[in-house]
Amino acid sequence: MNSEEFRRHAHAFVDWMADYMDTVEDYPVRARVQPGEVAAQLPVSPPQEGEPMAAIFEDFEKIVMPGITHWQHPNFFAYFPANSSPPSVLAEMLTAALGAQCMLWQTSPAATEMETRMLDWLRQMIGLPEGFAGVIQDSASSAILCALLTAREKATGWRANQEGLGALPRLTVYTSEETHSSTEKDVKVAGLGRDNLRSIPTDDNFSLRPDALAAAIEQDIAGGFKPACVVASVGTTGVGSVDPLRAIGEICARHDIWLHVDAAWAGSALILPEHRWMIDGIEHADSFVFNPHKWLFTNFDCSAHFVRDPDALVRTLSILPDYLKSREGDQVIDYRDWSVPLGRRFRALKLWFVIRSYGVEGLKQRLAAHIDWTRELAEQVAAAEDFEVTSPVSLALFSFRYRPAGVDDPAELDRLNETLLHKLNDGGAIYLTQNRVNGAYVIRFSVGQTATERRHVQAAWDLIQRTARTLPIGA
Ligand SMILES: Cc1ncc(COP(=O)(O)O)c(C=O)c1O
Repeated sequence: MNSEEFRRHAHAFVDWMADYMDTVEDYPVRARVQPGEVAAQLPVSPPQEGEPMAAIFEDFEKIVMPGITHWQHPNFFAYFPANSSPPSVLAEMLTAALGAQCMLWQTSPAATEMETRMLDWLRQMIGLPEGFAGVIQDSASSAILCALLTAREKATGWRANQEGLGALPRLTVYTSEETHSSTEKDVKVAGLGRDNLRSIPTDDNFSLRPDALAAAIEQDIAGGFKPACVVASVGTTGVGSVDPLRAIGEICARHDIWLHVDAAWAGSALILPEHRWMIDGIEHADSFVFNPHKWLFTNFDCSAHFVRDPDALVRTLSILPDYLKSREGDQVIDYRDWSVPLGRRFRALKLWFVIRSYGVEGLKQRLAAHIDWTRELAEQVAAAEDFEVTSPVSLALFSFRYRPAGVDDPAELDRLNETLLHKLNDGGAIYLTQNRVNGAYVIRFSVGQTATERRHVQAAWDLIQRTARTLPIGA
């Protein structure tokens, strides 16, 4: 494809993208294809000869689009948001055209220096103390893995990387029973062993209980284990609960344990000073992560990982074969040493575009609106006689269930709510996901997409009520 053909197609694609943004509301939110339906339309072998772009694009519309779940739909209330935005998409287009691989300062100085500055902008925006240095990871899971690996090295006197874990004391990791599953996965990946992950009970607010944490640590020390890391959550996935960082941090400081804070979703809300209470005690943390790719209008992937001691992270991950040496040495940052993958996309550019385009005030207004609409909706749900709020509003998340008068059997309530969720999602107008709260099947409501307005939230509530009230009871 020459540059003239590229220009022609790119202009047409940009028109398509703008139209998509305007009409995304007309699509069913969740893809309606059956398993295998997309694969059945893809040839089993690659084409030997090149094909015209027109034919490829026609198939994109015919085969791919029906198999897309529309995360940018204003009625996407499932999981957590992954909100993209026009300035972010524009930056991603430039990033793709540059195609730079930004593993070393030398392989694109602008990418490295932009990343350092953007992460410090984010640090200031969310009120993290000075002294935290940031890096962009692909995901919060990767940041948690880096935290566990660094904690592992620190707890073993930097011996585990060299000797393996075999002869070293058994390390233990602590997290609440509400923590996202990525911590458990990372414990496995880091070679620490799932048996050494302690699941600490939570209180009535679903927050980790410091007394239970302290007791578990003391029991482990008495049993010959070496506590290495606590992963605390600010905004858990199920219910949005917040762990008490100050009390947890004091326990970690007493026992010299690494404290990682996972604020993957809720971290964005820290740009609003009224929510900064969530990180009271953050000065005790060794590392912290939040995902602008969830709730800060920045395309996936962009996970902001902050560390108090970059040298510890680099010491854990650094490896320097001859072919990666560069003459700048210590004068510059080579981010390859700050994450597991060597190769890195130019991800700071989209942050630069987003933050400059909206301004911090513009971002604050949007998040504050999401939080207001969610609170308003939760009040309406609480006021409805046949519904109940099952976990309180945390920022822009709460959960609820349908509970019509006279139905008290837990299994019947679970069945009703599961049926309700499937009916809503199969209908295509909105998309929600489920959770279990105190054993009961509940429906999560999470607000945060860029195109979502108050009217979408309100229309979703109307639809939920109408749909629920048609469900046969005891069927
Ligand atoms: C609280 C929390 N932590 C971690 C993750 C994992 O995020 P990622 O997909 O960036 O690895 C999620 C994902 O939703 C989450 O909600």
